[in-house]
Amino acid sequence: MKVLTLDDFDLKGKTVFLRVDMNCPIDSNTMEISGTKRIEEAIETIKALDQSKLVIASHQGRVGNDDYTGMDKHVKVLEKLLNKKIKYVEDVIGQSAQNEIKNLQNGEILLLDNLRLCAEENYEFSPDDASNTIMVKRLAHLFDLCVLDSFPSAHRSHPSIVGFPHVLPACAGRIVEREVRNLDEIMTVAKAPHVIVLGGSKVPDRLEAIKMLIKTGRADHVLLTGLIGNVFMRAQARVKYPLGIKREDEVVAKAHALIGEYPDVFTTPVDVAIDKDGQRVDMDVRDLQTGDKIYDLGPKTIDHYSKIIASAGTVFISGPAGFFEKKDFSLGTRGLLNAVANSMATSLVSGGHLTTALKEQGLEEKINHISTAGGALVLYLTGEKLPMIKALESAASKHKSD
Ligand code: 3PG
Repeated sequence: MKVLTLDDFDLKGKTVFLRVDMNCPIDSNTMEISGTKRIEEAIETIKALDQSKLVIASHQGRVGNDDYTGMDKHVKVLEKLLNKKIKYVEDVIGQSAQNEIKNLQNGEILLLDNLRLCAEENYEFSPDDASNTIMVKRLAHLFDLCVLDSFPSAHRSHPSIVGFPHVLPACAGRIVEREVRNLDEIMTVAKAPHVIVLGGSKVPDRLEAIKMLIKTGRADHVLLTGLIGNVFMRAQARVKYPLGIKREDEVVAKAHALIGEYPDVFTTPVDVAIDKDGQRVDMDVRDLQTGDKIYDLGPKTIDHYSKIIASAGTVFISGPAGFFEKKDFSLGTRGLLNAVANSMATSLVSGGHLTTALKEQGLEEKINHISTAGGALVLYLTGEKLPMIKALESAASKHKSD
């Protein structure tokens, strides 16, 4: 790996900007964190920086979405996990944040508020432009080192990811170090047929990535589940009513175009489970009635997909197959993970939901690599160099020539 790691720096007494990804699922009724996995994962790097003046920064959710909140909940979880008081400031780039950073002592930790409160963090920039954002201009001079450990956001060229490393010495945190090493190893042994099992809810991002995966020979079969599966069934006119999702016409049109361009690649469910008065009801896709809420795959589909997974050389699964938090609708997710774990293929599992489900099923040991990332990993697999990795490589080459 051509990037620097924490082992390349003397960290003692240094003021460090640590970009993590503590973007957690949020229960929309209570607005509390419903899964703390991403915070737990950040702990290893935080502990490695226990001699520094440490400033932790993350985003949470997207502006306009239900999961867009402050980091006040995260600080409580961090304190519990570290058994230590963490300073928290409801600010990102203002005077209060700057004062708190300046006043930090060795061994102290400060958590900034949601980076996306700062408008610039919601846009993509070139590294040069990112280093000229107000965020980087106001904060960078307060730090000695930038540590990037938010692998799930490695595909975002936001100021916190590509701006700080452009002007500061920068290195990978433990998650990024491990992900890149493991993924590089996996990519060298990956063999055809490549089976991709895609679910989850970030449909527009996924549609872009699917096309690239197919074009780069990383997807011989794409098995669709979850919301993206519903979008493809709608594009095939097998679901005959609107799904009621954001940008529906646009994503359905894109799915339709993909099916036209690659007719032999996609497999969609033949049966699904819907929620009828709080009960799971399995049915053939042809029997769906307007307004039926599809919450899981049906048993025939789980069986069919499992057989395709069993014949894979490499299998990559990302995103839950249904509303897996509800036990009745977790059969698809659990069944497919079981198939992946028991196949002879090189296996890659991505994203927080699936990682949680794998752990519950005790299947972690049977998987070649479990990644913290969702969308970033999909792009990584296409062979595209992610903005965070480029930023780290460029920081490493500058460091060498200094
Ligand atoms: C993720 O969960 O995929 C990352 O935190 C990135 O989030 P984003 O898709 O909102 O940029």
